[in-house]
Amino acid sequence: MGENWDDIADWWVDAVREDPGQSDDTLAILSELLSDSNHSREGDRSRSLTIDLGCGEGQSMRLIDGSVIGTDYSMDLLRRAASAGPVVLGRMPDLGWVRPGVFDRAVSVGLLDVIDDHVSFFSSVALAVRPGGQLLVVINHPVATAPESEPLVDPNGEILWRWGNYLTAGSWPHEAGERTVDLVHRPVGELLTAAATAGWNLDQMIERGPSAASIERFHEYHGQAHIPSLAGFCWTRGPSR
Ligand SMILES: C[S@@+](CC[C@H](N)C(=O)[O-])C[C@H]1O[C@@H](n2cnc3c(N)ncnc32)[C@H](O)[C@@H]1O
Repeated sequence: MGENWDDIADWWVDAVREDPGQSDDTLAILSELLSDSNHSREGDRSRSLTIDLGCGEGQSMRLIDGSVIGTDYSMDLLRRAASAGPVVLGRMPDLGWVRPGVFDRAVSVGLLDVIDDHVSFFSSVALAVRPGGQLLVVINHPVATAPESEPLVDPNGEILWRWGNYLTAGSWPHEAGERTVDLVHRPVGELLTAAATAGWNLDQMIERGPSAASIERFHEYHGQAHIPSLAGFCWTRGPSR
């Protein structure tokens, strides 16, 4: 991707503070996934080690129990995340600096849909997480990232969703303050197949529309509570192949 998140770090920090879609809504899905993941894990959870991939300013790290390490390629955001735990400068999908199988769990919120190699993402995280460990991901829902997808109002005033080029993977620019960030669109089937090929077994998928707080904050979401805007996934790593 061309954009440098150091250049839009201030925009992102403001978005986390002011846009529920970038904070409360994603964190609500992450909390649900974490709670189910905690219930399914055995042993002393306080001793577990989680890596937060694309940790940004650290909002997800602050939700995770046990030890957590954040990684991101923005030095500016990492400086802010350092108050939530140890952080490492790194560029995904490269996790070559990690000892294989060292993590019990990987978490990634808002990263998979801004990087262009999802196949390497799933395989490199599979090497870094131990067999039986988990991968929790939250992204913009692919229904919402499809180029030319948008709301439509039918003659009765009902709000429908235009699918756009849903079946075609690609990226398109999304406003980020005075700059843009490319959001990468992939149909759900491409994501799930890449994860399965890398040895990840799907435990759970959560789909949500914009929350009441998001709709209140951004009136363009009015009437769209029933349209998917975010997706969360929990996978368990199968045995080594
Ligand atoms: C949408 S923000 C999400 C931040 C954080 N996970 C959160 O939910 O608050 C995307 C983050 O991914 C980071 N990022 C983008 N591409 C990256 C890459 N190739 N490797 C590591 N981090 C990346 C950005 O610097 C940014 O912090």
